[in-house]
Amino acid sequence: MGKTQKATNRVRPDLPEGVLSQREALEKLDTLTEQASLGGGAARIDKQHKSGKLTARERIALLCDEGSFEEIDAFVTHDVHAYGLENKKYLGDGVVTGVGRVYGRPVYVFAQDFTVFGGSLGERYGQKIIKIMDQALKNGCPVIGFNDSGGARIQEGVASLAAYAEIFLRNTLSSGVIPQISAIMGPCAGGAVYSPAITDFVFMVEGTSHMFVTGPSVIKSVTHEEIDMEGLGGAGVHGETSGVSHFTNESEPDCIVSIKKLLSFLPQNNLEPPPFIEPDDDVNREDDRLDRIVPDNPEKPYNMLDVLETVVDDGDFFEVHKHYAQNLIVGFARLGGHSIGIVAQQPAVLAGCLDIASSLKGARFVRFCDAFNIPIITFEDVPGFLPGVNQEHNGIIKHGAKLLYAYCEATVPKLCVITRKAYGGAYCVMSSKHIRSDVNYAWPTAEIAVMGAQGAVNILYARELAEADDPDKRRNDLTAEYRERFSNPYDAAARGYIDGVIKPRETRRKLIRALEVVRHKRDVNPPKKHGNIPL
Ligand code: HXC
Repeated sequence: MGKTQKATNRVRPDLPEGVLSQREALEKLDTLTEQASLGGGAARIDKQHKSGKLTARERIALLCDEGSFEEIDAFVTHDVHAYGLENKKYLGDGVVTGVGRVYGRPVYVFAQDFTVFGGSLGERYGQKIIKIMDQALKNGCPVIGFNDSGGARIQEGVASLAAYAEIFLRNTLSSGVIPQISAIMGPCAGGAVYSPAITDFVFMVEGTSHMFVTGPSVIKSVTHEEIDMEGLGGAGVHGETSGVSHFTNESEPDCIVSIKKLLSFLPQNNLEPPPFIEPDDDVNREDDRLDRIVPDNPEKPYNMLDVLETVVDDGDFFEVHKHYAQNLIVGFARLGGHSIGIVAQQPAVLAGCLDIASSLKGARFVRFCDAFNIPIITFEDVPGFLPGVNQEHNGIIKHGAKLLYAYCEATVPKLCVITRKAYGGAYCVMSSKHIRSDVNYAWPTAEIAVMGAQGAVNILYARELAEADDPDKRRNDLTAEYRERFSNPYDAAARGYIDGVIKPRETRRKLIRALEVVRHKRDVNPPKKHGNIPL
C-alpha cells in the first residue's frame, strides 16, 4: 500500500521524485479509501456474508441517515512487529469509527470488522474507539457500538488489554451522561463482552450473536463441561436466562431498526429532555375496555400489556428485556408525545410477584430513566415478593433492595397506577407516595394492604381457627371481613397515600394531565460522592 508510483507513469514528470501532482494525490486518496473500505478483503467479506452477517460498513450504512456518516481514522494501522503482523496491515486496523446521524441527531459509532484479525482489539484499534468515546462525551452524543470481535488481539499482548481497560473506564465515566448502546453482531469473547456489559442496552441477533467470557473449548478443558456457542452464549441464553441482553432480533437489519427505535425515545445526553413527537393520538381518548380488563376474581390473571397498549400513544409500547423476568414488564412509550419509561407487573406470569430477576431488571431500567430525564410510570399489581428457599438463599433481600433503592433515589417525575394488588413491601417499593412518587392513582379494583385477605386471616387468627368448631366457615367469615376492611383502595385514599381513585377508562387522560404538571419538576438528592446501592 501507499508505494510511490513509477516516474514513467507520472502525469507530471517535471516534479521531483516523491512529489505527487494534485491528480496523483487525489488518485492515491481514492485508492487508499477503496482499500480501507475492503477491510480484510473480498474473500473475507464473502465469508462474513455467507455466515449470515453484514460487514461493519453495511451495518453503519443501515444505522445512519443516508450520506450522514463521517468516518474518522480510516487510515490507522497497527505498529506491531511480532507474530508476522508486520506483514499484515489493514487500513483502519479492524474497526470503523466515526459520527453520523440517526433521524437527524448526531451519534458516534464504532463497528468492529471481523474480516480483520477476527475483529480483535489491539492498541491502535482501541485508541480509535477511545477517540470517538471522548468526543461523544464532550459533545453530548450517544455512542453505538457494533461488536463483532474475538476480544483482545492476542499478538499485541498487554497493549490490547490496556486499550480495553481504557475503554471500560470511558464506558463507566460516560454512564449516565450519554446513552451507550451495544449491538452484538458476531462471536464476542473476553473484553468484547465486558464493554457492552457496562453500556445501557445490549442487542443480540438470533443465530449469529454470541457472548461469553471464555468460549466452549476453554470451558471444556477447565470444567469438562461440553456446550456449543449457542448453548453457552446465544441470543436465547442472554435474552431469557442471564438477562445480559435487552433485545433479541431475528436479523441484523431488524436489530438496527430496533436500535433506531430505541434512540427515538432517548435524549442525546443527561442534560437534555427526551425528544417530543407531536401525537396523532387524542390526549383525551378514553377506552372502556379498561373498565373490564381486571377479572372479578382477584386470583385470576390478565395481560398487563393490554393495559399498557390501550393507554399509551398509538398503542406503541417498546418493550425492553421482553423475554427476561417476564413477571415484570419494562419499556418505553409516549404519552401526549413525550417519552416515558414504564414499569409494570405482569399478573399473567408468577402472579406478578417480585423475584430476584425482576428486581434487577426493574432497578436497572428505573436508574436508566432517572439518569436520562425520562418520567417513570408504574402500573402496579403485585402480591408481594416471591416466597421460597431458593429466592432467600440467592439474596432476594439485597436484590429486592436494589429496586427499592432505585425508586427511592429517582428524582424524575414518577406516576403510579395501582390496578389491583399492592401488597406489603412491594407496595412500598413500586413507586409509592412515601418514596417521592408525584401522582398516584388507584383503580376501584385496587387492594392496598399488608397482604392478601386469606394470608392475613391465617396469621391473625391462627389460634382461633385451630380451636373453631367449623374452621372453614370461620375462615371464610374472617376473610370476607378483612377484604371489606382492607382489600380496596379507600383505606389508602383516606390517608392521602393515593391521590385519587379513577375509572380505568380515564387512565390515559389522567396520566397525560399529571405529566403536563410534573414534567418540569425539580427534585434533588443530598450532595454525596455516590450512594451505595446494595449490589
Ligand atoms: C487475534 C484472533 C482473535 C484474537 C480471532 N482471531 N480471535 N486474532 N486475537 N483474540 C483471528 C483468528 O485467528 C482468525 O484468523 C480470524 O480471527 C477468525 O477467527 P476464527 O477462529 O476463524 O473464527 P470463528 O471460528 O468464527 O471463531 C471466532 C471466535 C474465536 C469464537 C471469536 O476466534 C475465538 O475463540 N477467538 C479467541 C477468543 C479469546 O479467547 N479472546 C481473548 C480474550 S481475552 P485467520 O487469519 O486464521 O482467519 C480478552 C481480555 C480482555 O479479551 C480483558 C477482559 C476484562
